[in-house]
Amino acid sequence: MRHCGSHLHVSGRSQYVDDVPAPKGMLHAVVFGSPVAHGKLLSLDLEAAKAVEGVKAIVTYESIPGSKMIGALALDEPLFADKEVLFQGHPIALVIADSHAAATKGAKTCSAEIEELSPVTCPREAFAKGLLLQETRVFEKGDVDSIWSECETIVAGKIDLAGQEHLYLETNRARVIPQEDGQMKVYSSTQSPSAVQKHVAGVLGLPMHKVEVDVKRLGGGFGGKEDQATHWACMAAVGAALLKAPVQIVLSRPDDMRMTGKRHPYKQDFKIGLDSAGKILAYEVHHFQNSGAYMDLSGPVLERTVLHSTNAYAIPNVRIRAAACRTNLPSNTAYRGFGGPQGMFPLEVAIEQAAAKMGVSPDWIQSRNLISDGYVFQYGQEMEGCNMQRTWDEAVEHFDVKGIKARIAAFNKENLMVKKGFAMMPVCFGISFTKTFLNQGSSLVHVYTDGSVSVTTGGIEMGQGISSNMIAIASRVFGIPHAWINSNSTNTRRIANISPSAASATSDLNGNATIIACNEILSGMLKIAGEHLGCSPEALKIVNGVVQRDGAPTELTWQQLVLKTYFARVQLMAHGFYSPPDLHYDGVKGFGKPFHYYTFGTCLIETTVDCLRGTYTIDASRIVHDLGRTIIPTVDRGQIEGGLAQGLGWVTLEELSFSDSGRLTSHALSTYKAPDADFMPDVMELKLLENVDNPGGPLGSKAVGEPPFMYGTAAYFAIRRAIEAYTPLIEDEVRCPMTPERVLLSLYPNFK
Ligand code: MTE
Ligand code: HPA
Ligand code: MOS
Repeated sequence: MRHCGSHLHVSGRSQYVDDVPAPKGMLHAVVFGSPVAHGKLLSLDLEAAKAVEGVKAIVTYESIPGSKMIGALALDEPLFADKEVLFQGHPIALVIADSHAAATKGAKTCSAEIEELSPVTCPREAFAKGLLLQETRVFEKGDVDSIWSECETIVAGKIDLAGQEHLYLETNRARVIPQEDGQMKVYSSTQSPSAVQKHVAGVLGLPMHKVEVDVKRLGGGFGGKEDQATHWACMAAVGAALLKAPVQIVLSRPDDMRMTGKRHPYKQDFKIGLDSAGKILAYEVHHFQNSGAYMDLSGPVLERTVLHSTNAYAIPNVRIRAAACRTNLPSNTAYRGFGGPQGMFPLEVAIEQAAAKMGVSPDWIQSRNLISDGYVFQYGQEMEGCNMQRTWDEAVEHFDVKGIKARIAAFNKENLMVKKGFAMMPVCFGISFTKTFLNQGSSLVHVYTDGSVSVTTGGIEMGQGISSNMIAIASRVFGIPHAWINSNSTNTRRIANISPSAASATSDLNGNATIIACNEILSGMLKIAGEHLGCSPEALKIVNGVVQRDGAPTELTWQQLVLKTYFARVQLMAHGFYSPPDLHYDGVKGFGKPFHYYTFGTCLIETTVDCLRGTYTIDASRIVHDLGRTIIPTVDRGQIEGGLAQGLGWVTLEELSFSDSGRLTSHALSTYKAPDADFMPDVMELKLLENVDNPGGPLGSKAVGEPPFMYGTAAYFAIRRAIEAYTPLIEDEVRCPMTPERVLLSLYPNFK
C-alpha cells in the first residue's frame, strides 16, 4: 500500500486550509508583532493603520471578549501582549482587512511606544538571575558523589546546543467562519484540534460545544503545531466574532519564523566517570533549557530530556539537573524527539571525550554500556523487551564496521587534505506521552450500505501517514481492500477530547481504537453471516471482501453481508476507545512507568571533510531499526529517512542566529539552511530487525515518528573525527551545529 495522499500531493491537488475556496466576504488578518525583544508596552498608535484602504478593524488585548489568556499547561500567555512585550515578534495587534495585501500594509503601519528593557537570551544568564519557569528538577540514581574516586577516567565539560526551526512547508494558519447562533467553525493547521477548540471557546467566552474544529491535513507539523497553532486560530476567532465575518490568518514565512517557538536550545554541563574496562560508573549532567518567554510545553519537553539523558546506556550512578530558563525569545516548543535529542547529546559528547582520554574509540565505550532487560532507569521503569544489543550487533556485523573503519583509516593515511570520519549512534526512545492522561485514542468507524467504509480518528495527518495506517488497519481487521476505505478529516464533532497528534503515539493510540471499533462492527456482521450460512461465526472470516468458512470461500460477499446486517437492524457503526494499560507516572516525583514500551536502533554515519574549504558531505547512513511488525513498510521507511534528514540538519547546517538584542537574524530561507535531497547521503541503507513483535502496538507495530531523528546525531561526531584526522580539536565549549563555517574555524584555530 502507498501513502494514501501521495497521488494528491505530487499532483498539487491536496487541499490545505487556504486551498478550500473562500467563503463569501472572507477577511484577511496579519499580525503586528513587537519590534523589540523586551520592554514595557506604553501605548499603541493604530490610527494610520485604520486609515489604510481596506482595513476593517484592529484587534488588541482589549478586544478579546472572553478569557485573554491561553497556554498548553498553564494559562500564562496573553493572546496579545498587554503591558509588556517579551520577545521580538510578540503579537500586539491583529489587522483585519478585505485583502491580505491591505492587512499586511496595515500591520506595517502600526506602531507602539515601548520602554525598552534589556533582554536575556542566554539560559545560563537567566538561571543566574533566577528567571525560571518552574522549580529546578533533580533526578538521581545510585550515589554519584561517592563513586568518582573509583573512576579511572573522568572528564567534564560544557556544551552549547542550538535549537532548530520546524520549517513545515505550510506556515501556521487558520480560517474561522461564524455559524448560526454564535457558533464558530474553525479550520486550523493544528496537531491538537481539541486544544484549538478549548482556547477558541475560551477567548470567545463560549462553551466548547459551540466551536467545531476540523483538520483535513497539515503541510507538516513536527511538533511546531502541537501547541503553537492555537494562537492564530484564537486571533482569527476573535476577529470573526467581532466583525461577524469569516476571517483567515496565514503567517508569512518570516512572521512564522520570528513569532513561533522552535526546538529548545540548551546549555549543558556534564561529567562522566569510567573504569578501566570502559564501564560508565557515573554520569552527571545539568541542563539549562532555553525555554523562551512562556511555559508552552517547556516543562514536559524538559522532562523527556531528563528521561532520555542516559539514552541507550546502563549507568549505575546518575544525577540529572534540569532548569527551565525564561528568556526573551518566543516560547520554545515541541519538536520531533521532544527534548529527547537534547537529553542524549551531552552523553555522546562525554563518551567521545572519555574515549579520547583513554585512547580508545567511542564505539568501544558505547558497546560496553548498552542497556538490556532488567535495567532500572533513574525514573523507576524497568527495561523489558530490550532489542538494543541486537540492533547494535546487527549493525556491526551486517554493515561490516571493521571493514568501514579499515577503509577510512587507509583513506586518511593516503589523503592529506580530505579526511573521512565515522560514528555510531544507538537510540532508545520511550513511547507514550509523559503526561499519562494524554495516552488515549478514539476512532469512529462507519460502514455504509454500499459496503464502503469511513474512518475518523483523533489522529492528525501531517504527512507522517496516519491516514494510510488507519486505512491499512481497518482493511486488515475487516478483510477488505484498502480502496473501499476512506480516512476522514479530524473533527471535534466526531471525536471529543482529542490528544495532540504527537509523541509518535498517534498510530498506536488511534490504531488500537480503530481495531476495537472495527471488531465491534465485525462481530455483529459475522453473527448475521453465521445465521445465513448455518454455522458458528467462529468458523467465518472475511478475506479480500469475501466471507470464508473454515478457510474456503463462500458465496457471501462483504457488500451482501453489509446489506444483510443493515436489514437485520444490527449496527454498522462503532466508536472505539483505547488507552494503554499499566502506565503510571508521578510527574512531581519523577517516578513510575511513563512508557508503554521503547523503540531501539543503531545508526552508522560516514562523512568526508574537505580540510581546505571546511565543506563536507554525509556519505553514508546505515541503520538497523526495530519497527516491530511494520504496518506499511514504505510509510515507515519514509519516517526513518525523514527523521534522519531532520536530525542531520539539526547538528550540521541549521543555525538559528539571534542578535544580542534578541532579534532572529535567520528569519528566512536565505539565511537559514536546511538539508535538501542533495545533502542526503548517496548510500542510505536500512535493515529492519526481523522476527520482532510488539504486543503494545496495533498489529504488532512500533511507533516510528520521532526515534530516527536522533540517528542524525552521529553525523556531528563523524565530522569531528574527520577534523581530528587532520588537526586536534581545540575548544573550551562543545558547540553544535557543525556548520561548514565552524568546521573551517576548527580546522584552522589560529586563523584570525
Ligand atoms: N512526518 C511528517 N511527514 N510530518 C510531520 O509533521 N511530525 C513528526 C513525526 N513525523 C511529522 C512527521 C513528529 S514530531 C511526531 S511526534 C510524529 O510524526 C507524529 O505522528 P505519529 O504519532 O503518527 O508518529
Ligand atoms: N511528547 C510529545 N508531546 C507531549 C508529550 C510527549 O511526551 N507530553 C506532552 N505533550
Ligand atoms: Mo512530536 S515533537 O511529539 O509533535
